[in-house]
Amino acid sequence: MRAYRRFTDECLPTAAAHVDGALAIWTNFLGKEPIRGVAGALGYSEAGELLWAKKSAQHEGNEQVLRVYETALVFVKHPLPALSPADLPRVWCVAAGYDEEGEAQRWGNHPNHKPFRVLEALVRQWSRPGELILDPFAGSGSIPAAAIRLQRRAASSEIEGDWAARVSQRLSEVVS
Ligand SMILES: C[S@@+](CC[C@H](N)C(=O)[O-])C[C@H]1O[C@@H](n2cnc3c(N)ncnc32)[C@H](O)[C@@H]1O
Repeated sequence: MRAYRRFTDECLPTAAAHVDGALAIWTNFLGKEPIRGVAGALGYSEAGELLWAKKSAQHEGNEQVLRVYETALVFVKHPLPALSPADLPRVWCVAAGYDEEGEAQRWGNHPNHKPFRVLEALVRQWSRPGELILDPFAGSGSIPAAAIRLQRRAASSEIEGDWAARVSQRLSEVVS
């Protein structure tokens, strides 16, 4: 926990300094409290929490269950405007499998891969076409790839050389 707190103290202000829109931070129940503390100190308030309800089959079972979930905390600098009666509701939960589109398999099966259907809800709701989306921890590049697919611009970094090479290849294919 101490290491996670230190990491959050260092990384979150650095990443936030590069963007002026919403922050969406994937985490687990241990990470929430340190992230909320640092985001609050930076002047962000929590807009909500997007849940990815993971469709998975139980061992030797044949039905899809939704017992596992991942969560992304969403923070904004300014309070959200009220929705008008004609607006669609904001999306706070998406049920999807780990790899319904075969993207994880194609790009190395990163253990923390996020499927497009889940990222689409985040990207559409918290950015507009043409805006820049920053993902400092790209993994296999699902987030920058979703950003480009939805006509946003993307910036990302990845510390592991093999994964970084996959991200470059993947993004060059999304762009072309
Ligand atoms: C949770 S995974 C991201 C998975 C990604 N969303 C996907 O769909 O494939 C986090 C990634 O951050 C990378 N990472 C960890 N520390 C980093 C750092 N200091 N700078 C850049 N990347 C880092 C890890 O190597 C790992 O691939």
